[in-house]
Amino acid sequence: MDPRRNPFSPGAGVRPAQLAGRDELIETCEIAMDRVLNGLYANDIIMTGLRGVGKTVLLNHLVNLAKSRGMETIKFEVPDASGGHLTPAMVIALGAVLKKLDRLKKAGDGLRLAAAALQNFAAVFRVKYEGFSFGASPARAVADSGDLETDLPELLMPVARAAETRKTAVVLFIDEVQYLTKKELSALARTCHEAAQQGVPFLFIGAGLPQIAALAGDAKSYAERLFLYPEVAALDDAAARKALSAPAQAQKVKFTNGALDRILKETDRYPYFLQTWGKFAWDTASKSPITEADVKEANPAIIAHLDQNFFRVRFDRCTGLEQQYLRAMAELGAGPHRTGDIAAALGTTSSKLAPVRRNLISAGMIYSQRYGETGFTVPLFDGFMKRMLPELEPYKPGRRSLS
Ligand SMILES: Nc1ncnc2c1ncn2[C@@H]1O[C@H](COP(=O)(O)OP(=O)(O)OP(=O)(O)O)[C@@H](O)[C@H]1O
Ligand SMILES: [Mg+2]
Repeated sequence: MDPRRNPFSPGAGVRPAQLAGRDELIETCEIAMDRVLNGLYANDIIMTGLRGVGKTVLLNHLVNLAKSRGMETIKFEVPDASGGHLTPAMVIALGAVLKKLDRLKKAGDGLRLAAAALQNFAAVFRVKYEGFSFGASPARAVADSGDLETDLPELLMPVARAAETRKTAVVLFIDEVQYLTKKELSALARTCHEAAQQGVPFLFIGAGLPQIAALAGDAKSYAERLFLYPEVAALDDAAARKALSAPAQAQKVKFTNGALDRILKETDRYPYFLQTWGKFAWDTASKSPITEADVKEANPAIIAHLDQNFFRVRFDRCTGLEQQYLRAMAELGAGPHRTGDIAAALGTTSSKLAPVRRNLISAGMIYSQRYGETGFTVPLFDGFMKRMLPELEPYKPGRRSLS
């Protein structure tokens, strides 16, 4: 059918025509926003889920919901685990927030203090900042110790108070939270903790891979009580069907039940794959309804496309040994698997493979939610690994470098 009217949108953070199955999670976040606006306490939230499950799309949707409430929003994505991304992002975003707060109500003492904190913070963390200062005196010893854990709360508390004076609140959204360094994560947790204790209108909503709960717990023992960790999972059966049928229906196109059954089976109901199968099935079918035969016909092209694009880029970033590790995981199935079993599949021990595993976790390829357990962060990666490397080779120490 006409690709110009194809309503499916596989891509990173691309808003789907139908945001299916997330009502409960959205409601949880909306309640938190409204509580904060009403001067009440709400847990900060870190949504966790695998690759392509719809975290970025959700976060963008929540940013819009916060904006529609007149809340001041800050959103950024941590690009990788190299560190140092948080401070410049905060300076730029908070500079913009202060300007907006100034427009709501001209600078008073509160805003001046916030601006001074921002100037100090930018200076001590060597971030170029040319925002305006509201005549603030940078001499005030606030947010200028050089210790992020002290300075980040000292920076954000006055901004949230300035927002409160203007009858609004600050919501900080961070995508790919698992890439923050331990220090950055500690500083963030400390900020949330301070905000809760001081009763200032500040809310943090993050999204990241499943290991984030453990990372946050390591960074600060109280993180467990501070954050809610709702899971962004594969869609349930009804939502997955709706994700396919509703956008088609809007174009007066139907899927047969057989076609839907087949797509649900192929995709394990993961949103990115639902979009991909929907798109290809639409393009393959010559007319409505889209049938199971259309899906079957499209399948080889879909697998080839995903292998070439979605999976392959991740695979290519790994060293030979890392690829072997992933291949051993695939041998055991979709997972998660016991770390010891993975080592055994390679004919060696977990301790020998610890550096490889650590690198793969830090690169976001695999995750460990529970001690001694390892899973793929990318759904359906096991099938891809078997297609890429049909044979599982035993581990040969020294054959390749570990880095
Ligand atoms: N609830 C949903 N219903 C239907 N499609 C969805 C839903 N959520 C996301 N999608 C689609 O899934 C794809 C992936 O979404 P998104 O980029 O938000 O995932 P992600 O979890 O952020 O992935 P990554 O971890 O790789 O960043 C997009 O094409 C999006 O349109
Ligand atoms: Mg994302």
